Amino acid sequence: MFSRCVLQSTAKSSLIQAPFLQTRISALSSVTAHRCQNSIPSPRVDGRRYISAYGYTQAKALVYSRYGEPKDVLQLHKHSISAPNGTQVNLRLIAAPLNPADVNQIQGVYPSKPPFQTTLGTLEPSAIGGNEGAFEIIGTGSEVKRLSKGDWVIMKRTGQGTWRTHAQMDESQLIKIEDQTGLSPLQVSTVSVNPVTAYRMIKDFCDWDWMRAGEEWLVQNGANSGVGRAAIQLGREWGIKTLNVVRERQTPEETEALKQELKDLGATAVVTEAELLSGEFRNIVKELTRQGKEPIRLALNCVGGKNATALAKVLAPGSHMVTYGAMSKQPVALPSGLLIFKNLAFDGFWVSKWGDKNPHLKENTIKDILQLTRAGKFKDIPVEEAKWSWDTEAPELAAAVQGTLSGYRGGKGLLKFEGDD
Ligand SMILES: NC(=O)c1ccc[n+]([C@@H]2O[C@H](COP(=O)([O-])OP(=O)(O)OC[C@H]3O[C@@H](n4cnc5c(N)ncnc54)[C@H](OP(=O)(O)O)[C@@H]3O)[C@@H](O)[C@H]2O)c1
Repeated sequence: MFSRCVLQSTAKSSLIQAPFLQTRISALSSVTAHRCQNSIPSPRVDGRRYISAYGYTQAKALVYSRYGEPKDVLQLHKHSISAPNGTQVNLRLIAAPLNPADVNQIQGVYPSKPPFQTTLGTLEPSAIGGNEGAFEIIGTGSEVKRLSKGDWVIMKRTGQGTWRTHAQMDESQLIKIEDQTGLSPLQVSTVSVNPVTAYRMIKDFCDWDWMRAGEEWLVQNGANSGVGRAAIQLGREWGIKTLNVVRERQTPEETEALKQELKDLGATAVVTEAELLSGEFRNIVKELTRQGKEPIRLALNCVGGKNATALAKVLAPGSHMVTYGAMSKQPVALPSGLLIFKNLAFDGFWVSKWGDKNPHLKENTIKDILQLTRAGKFKDIPVEEAKWSWDTEAPELAAAVQGTLSGYRGGKGLLKFEGDD
């Protein structure tokens, strides 16, 4: 009932994201609720979602207003979203992954920091967590051209905040998933960061000799990560053999099971970090590469430290190592000889920056990966699902986020929204 009063009083102002609505509702509720008692039947305000007769959607966002550990700083903020105007669309979350970079961002140690703002009506300026996710269009403004209700979309850029039940955005900020057939929420929500990173690193940092398909290698650590699994499958598709390094599990059986899991994806060989760092590794490599006749031409490094050094040492002269993560938090140390005598090149790759510079290529890369997915050539990553319903409390969601950086996980965290429009 009080929503009607507030809406009437603000009807002339442009309520794009209805930023002030929430604050004004809380501030005025006792007064307006009383004054408006007989105006219209009371909507459900007992914590449940409701969509007002004026087209306002109730939404929740997982926000932070200071840097720190997710469990300490993440809060659930409830707010309202107006009906979309012009080229705006309203979105409902389908699923959003919990990536390591999302946590680094909340900790304040990631180079891209979404600005703290009051656009959603938070008491303190805040940022919304998450950089990746799949959304469904639930409403379109009158000038929207490319998108319709029911379409699935992902965000063009990272840093927009995906951990929210609903959002309002301009259609220009979104990539439409042209054909949803055969695609799952998990596949669409995790396509734009990890697979794109693997795809671009393999394509852009090595001049593969396609005449030698099946005779050239890439080596990578963190091979069971989302990026690592994508690299294995792309390597298999493109005729590039992959030598993959994983950390030992608690028991030999579990380690073997993990190795087998990656082989089932198409990994040519899988070794443990202990094997990589052992004196035996050179011999293992010689045997795999037919005494070096099959060159290892690319190394993908998301770990750093001794692990990265060991990868660099088995690269063929003139090859590249691309560093894209730093999971061990150890620096990459390189013996000078690798630079002087083997002429190795060391690069870094950051998909966010690359995507901002190459928006069309990013869209095409995503299309290509989704095509492989539809064709059953790109298997799902294992996930630990955190269901997000309208009643889910902030600590439950924050705990799911908190676990992201702990190693030896059974799968990537995935927020799956189970609410309605
Ligand atoms: N530069 C870019 O554009 C870009 C894009 C995507 C991802 N990344 C980075 O790539 C890395 C992997 O991301 P993801 O989303 O694919 O990861 P993910 O699926 O969440 O998997 C995490 C990976 O990190 C490993 N790991 C965790 N702690 C470790 C430690 N202390 N030492 C060694 N390995 C450790 C895990 O191995 P265990 O299972 O053995 O714990 C697992 O392989 C992250 O550093 C992420 O920030 C960078």
